[in-house]
Amino acid sequence: AEFKRGGYDHFMLKEIYEQPESIVNTMRGRVNFENQSVKLGGLSNYLTTIRRSRRIVMIACGTSYHSCLAARDLFEELTDIPISVEVASYFIDRKPPLFRDDTCIFVSQSGETADTLVALKYCLERGAMCVGVVNVVGSSLSRLTMCGVHINAGPEIGVASTKAFTSQYVALVMMALLFSEDRMSKLQRRKEIIDGLGTLSEKLSEVLELNDVIEETAEAMKDKTKMLVLGSGYQYATALEGALKIKEISYILAEGILMGELKHGPLALVEKDLPIVMIATKDKLYDLVASSVSQVTSRLGEPVFITSKNGPRLIEPTKASTDGKVAARAESDYVKFEVPETVDCLQTILNILVLQMLGYWLAVKKGYDPDFPRNLAKAVTTR
Ligand code: G6P
Repeated sequence: AEFKRGGYDHFMLKEIYEQPESIVNTMRGRVNFENQSVKLGGLSNYLTTIRRSRRIVMIACGTSYHSCLAARDLFEELTDIPISVEVASYFIDRKPPLFRDDTCIFVSQSGETADTLVALKYCLERGAMCVGVVNVVGSSLSRLTMCGVHINAGPEIGVASTKAFTSQYVALVMMALLFSEDRMSKLQRRKEIIDGLGTLSEKLSEVLELNDVIEETAEAMKDKTKMLVLGSGYQYATALEGALKIKEISYILAEGILMGELKHGPLALVEKDLPIVMIATKDKLYDLVASSVSQVTSRLGEPVFITSKNGPRLIEPTKASTDGKVAARAESDYVKFEVPETVDCLQTILNILVLQMLGYWLAVKKGYDPDFPRNLAKAVTTR
């Protein structure tokens, strides 16, 4: 086992470190950076049907569900087809209306998750176009779907999914690019994203350099029993997935929250010393991010930030002490994990790495084995 972990203490850490490579494997032979095109062999015979579909329904569980959520915005933007994202078990319980001109995309690392397979059966019976996005070649899901994409991330052993998430997301981005290839109005945006994919691997390696500071932060945070992870827009799914990583292996009650919802409830939890991870990398929602930051800091919550290297200021010096009650701190007093900037829709891939490492180190510092969290299995093959 020592050998297979390649010198890493745990499979999870090994798999975290594999990501600069595994996302390249997902793109290999599929993204042509020179002529700005994407080819997915498994889908080529089905593109017309998919592009004509009246709706795309993405269905998955756990981390795979989060990769669907993360990809929704881009699917909507590039394809102009209505997208819905479904947790497989809830989808089956509801048995919602589904039509022959729907395209259903099933995302699963193992390809054996019972909930997802039952949902697939339901959609096949209704004559919908069923597409798989799977890591394990030859798995039930890859056999039973009509067509699909293998994410080629390599075997994932750690129960907490890491490299499968980033590769699923890259696969979904490639699909959105492919489905919108016939849309002239999206040409510039598609080019920007394809260029972004080309530099993602080296930026991921840069994020890995934060490992030591993340370990230190985890040491300081390890006795906390609860934690919030906040994100908006593209980073909402990152927040949910980051919180899932933290809770499943460190057993800290971590909750992913949409920044815009803070004022509708969760703000009541914010008080002195509550740890809050704020995903505050620069994008078009940055004003909303900055206002959430002040909502949190003025209530003396204890944010740590994921921000863009050389990004804009988060806390204005003049605003730092307007609260009146207690002098708020300056931006430089807070822990900041600075990540490189990329295209907004790809930022998720860089940001989630920080939260994967934070989850990993919280588990290790608390003395837990991150590879085998209690009560959980790598693939849940019963309903
Ligand atoms: C289990 C695992 C999760 C995983 C989920 C979906 O609950 O513990 O890590 O995200 O199943 O698995 P899948 O193989 O379908 O992606």
